[in-house]
Amino acid sequence: MAFAVITGASSGIGREIAIKLSELGYDIILAARRGERLIEVSRQLRSPAEIITIDLSKEENCYSLYERCRGKDVEILVNNAGFGVFGEFADTELSRELEMIDLNIRAVHILTKLFLADFKEKNRGKILNVASAAGFMPAGPMLSAYYATKAYVLSLTRGIAQELKKSGSGVSVSALCPGPVKTEFGSVAGVNLAMSIKGISAEAAASDAVRGMLSGKTVIIPGVHIRSGKALMRLVPDNVITALVYKFQKAKEDK
Ligand SMILES: NC(=O)c1ccc[n+]([C@@H]2O[C@H](COP(=O)([O-])OP(=O)(O)OC[C@H]3O[C@@H](n4cnc5c(N)ncnc54)[C@H](OP(=O)(O)O)[C@@H]3O)[C@@H](O)[C@H]2O)c1
Repeated sequence: MAFAVITGASSGIGREIAIKLSELGYDIILAARRGERLIEVSRQLRSPAEIITIDLSKEENCYSLYERCRGKDVEILVNNAGFGVFGEFADTELSRELEMIDLNIRAVHILTKLFLADFKEKNRGKILNVASAAGFMPAGPMLSAYYATKAYVLSLTRGIAQELKKSGSGVSVSALCPGPVKTEFGSVAGVNLAMSIKGISAEAAASDAVRGMLSGKTVIIPGVHIRSGKALMRLVPDNVITALVYKFQKAKEDK
């Protein structure tokens, strides 16, 4: 059977995508830093799983993940690993933000490039890049750098998708753009969870993600609220949206 590689598979959306793809019969390669958690996930899968304990914020590890997958019949790559850093830009820790940029942007960029070349050669394969509804926003005050990373992922994915479509390729690239999802994201980002809106389940997000990716959709937006919110946004000036995002995010600050 063909393989699906999923980064950030130890929790949240990545874990649920792994379960869904395993139900569809793919052999799974699970990658993240917490090995114990990956073992727990592997026990819930219906198909064989390989565990790769790895920190993808380190550039050399992105190449080594690719090398470890090379030679296997990889058909799906899910670039899901990512995190946010909450707070005013002037106050947040630079090293943590650079680590976020390395994971949310550099790792996605490197892995997409390497796997895409192999997929194009066999004219078969799918890449799912987990962006965010944040990527649609003009800006994301209180999570400014995080929003910017997701705008990068969304723009990059759309560009590649268009190139593939125009060349009649059998390969597809999709961007998943969820609004709030109930995962460990909020606690990792450092937001006051009591003030966060609930969001959809990781299982629901994964279900839409897998369906959209397999049908070759370029932009996948789980949840009717976020889809209609995006449509409404076209009518609202950017500065008004930015002010609303600030109000929404500022409410999550620990007082
Ligand atoms: N939750 C939301 O509201 C939401 C909304 C839109 C988009 N997203 C995006 O969805 C993706 C998944 O997040 P989630 O919500 O499922 O949060 P999560 O539960 O915190 O999962 C994040 C995953 O990324 C992995 N990860 C973090 N740092 C890593 C590193 N340096 N190297 C390798 N893996 C790393 C984590 O595993 P380890 O800690 O074991 O390494 C974990 O498996 C992210 O890209 C996030 O930006 C989330």
